[in-house]
Amino acid sequence: MTDRRKDGGRIRIAVAGATGRVGSALVARLANDPVDVAALTRNAGGHVTQAGVQPAEIDFDRPETLVEAMRGADRLFLAHGTSDRQVVNEIALIDAAIAAGVDHIVKLSAMGPPTRLHPFDWHMEIEAYLATKDIGYTMLRPSSFIDVLARAKGPVAAGDWGGSAGDGLVNLIDTRDVADVARIALLDDRFPSSQRAYHLTGPAGVSMPQVAEELSHLLDRAVTYQHRSVADHRRLLVDTGASEMVADLLLGLDRIFREGILAETTTTVDDLLGRPARSASDWLEEHRDGFRIDPEIKTLQPS
Ligand SMILES: NC(=O)c1ccc[n+]([C@@H]2O[C@H](COP(=O)([O-])OP(=O)(O)OC[C@H]3O[C@@H](n4cnc5c(N)ncnc54)[C@H](OP(=O)(O)O)[C@@H]3O)[C@@H](O)[C@H]2O)c1
Repeated sequence: MTDRRKDGGRIRIAVAGATGRVGSALVARLANDPVDVAALTRNAGGHVTQAGVQPAEIDFDRPETLVEAMRGADRLFLAHGTSDRQVVNEIALIDAAIAAGVDHIVKLSAMGPPTRLHPFDWHMEIEAYLATKDIGYTMLRPSSFIDVLARAKGPVAAGDWGGSAGDGLVNLIDTRDVADVARIALLDDRFPSSQRAYHLTGPAGVSMPQVAEELSHLLDRAVTYQHRSVADHRRLLVDTGASEMVADLLLGLDRIFREGILAETTTTVDDLLGRPARSASDWLEEHRDGFRIDPEIKTLQPS
């Protein structure tokens, strides 16, 4: 990459997880930057192309496709949907990036304690692998995404929202802020070989009952968060279609919220972007209509 910059050429950024929440927002931003972007996806046919963005089809069972997708890339944004394939797939992408000569990886990780809970343990394993490599990287460790509240849309509309998060505070972050920080980290030319971590949060912690209060105000009707035991909530999640793995992930999140483990506020988003992080209140207002009563809703969604 250094040589390419010296030649005045454009840098090439490979984006894994490009069709996902953070990845798609990142690709949209990079499309307006003077860089070339390869958007990695398992299904290039379903990917909408944008000017300056090339879809690159990958198949994790064929490692050569990963190296091929990364050919000529200077930097990699490494994201992956939550899955029990995450560790093996991300490690395969790291190996392919190194083989292709990438000099800096921006990895989407998660803020949280060392724990056996998924996906935190998965991220610990991937981070530890990356740390053994002689390559520059930026670990992005965001707190829980605000989008987690999107799961509450159906239940709030149906008057059945609840869970086992209690009154605990969690500092939710907007995925657009994560994408904005990822862009800054990918375009940062100062220390490509440095190895660093950014802890990313929104501007303040919020509890689920406080979210209910905000929704009551926005919707002009009473919204409550029903406190459930872990056992009751697990049963409800599984009964309404969640797999065992998804139920465990959601209960793990509720536990983290209940115990205030992600309540911390960092100034990193503000420091890097020169503006405050987007708030949960702003997100709720933006998505207000999704929480309105919908007569078509007949089944309970997992919260
Ligand atoms: N949700 C949270 O609150 C939170 C908080 C902190 C950190 N995180 C971390 O953020 C990451 C997720 O980011 P995101 O929400 O932007 O991702 P996402 O939207 O869930 O998925 C990103 C993309 O990963 C690709 N992918 C490749 N292999 C996959 C597989 N086996 N299963 C599922 N997807 C696969 C998919 O793209 P193609 O189908 O195009 O291949 C998908 O669009 C996870 O590592 C998670 O731990 C999440």
